[in-house]
Amino acid sequence: MLELVAGALWAMLPAYVPNNAAVLAGGGRPIDGGRTWGGRRLLGDGKTWRGTAVGVVAGVALALVLDAIVAPVGDALGITLPGFPLAAAVGLALGAMLGDVAASFLKRRTGRDRGASFPMLDQLDFVVGALALAALVAPAWFGATFSPARIAVVVVVTPLLHVGTNAIAYAAGLKAEPW
Ligand code: CTP
Ligand code: MG
Repeated sequence: MLELVAGALWAMLPAYVPNNAAVLAGGGRPIDGGRTWGGRRLLGDGKTWRGTAVGVVAGVALALVLDAIVAPVGDALGITLPGFPLAAAVGLALGAMLGDVAASFLKRRTGRDRGASFPMLDQLDFVVGALALAALVAPAWFGATFSPARIAVVVVVTPLLHVGTNAIAYAAGLKAEPW
């Protein structure tokens, strides 16, 4: 049980950090360069080059840190935790950011302005993006790390973590909306 839940969350940490790093680092030129489609922004001012780049770097950097401490932490908990080959780290971090960007694209196409909430999409966009890209670029690692049970844990626990951290970021004045 501990190995199932702790292993699932550990494996997802490089996908969790990019969004939060992007909130802290965001600003500057929007990815869509102000372009519109159908009278609405392609992505909006909430998706910037800087936020995206810093998010990916933060996720990959965290994976390197986790790799350095995986053995002692696993020993202390009495379980085996997953390590991160570079392809897996990049897949998780970049995939998380791409999932978030894709969600903004969908939000604009469905008439939602920047910052509008889209329940479930907001909480799971980066999970779908991270798992999909990791499976694509590191298929063997993905198969060995994400059992169906672990994916189920991720899909259930991630929205709770996401709502919690965003509420904290909002309360701390770092984020404009609590979602
Ligand atoms: N951010 C960024 N680049 C990204 C993702 C996020 O710069 N790729 C920063 C922006 O400053 C953004 C903030 O993080 O405003 C919060 O992210 P998010 O909630 O994803 O963006 P929103 O502003 O809510 O816009 P959207 O409706 O498109 O999600
Ligand atoms: Mg938002």
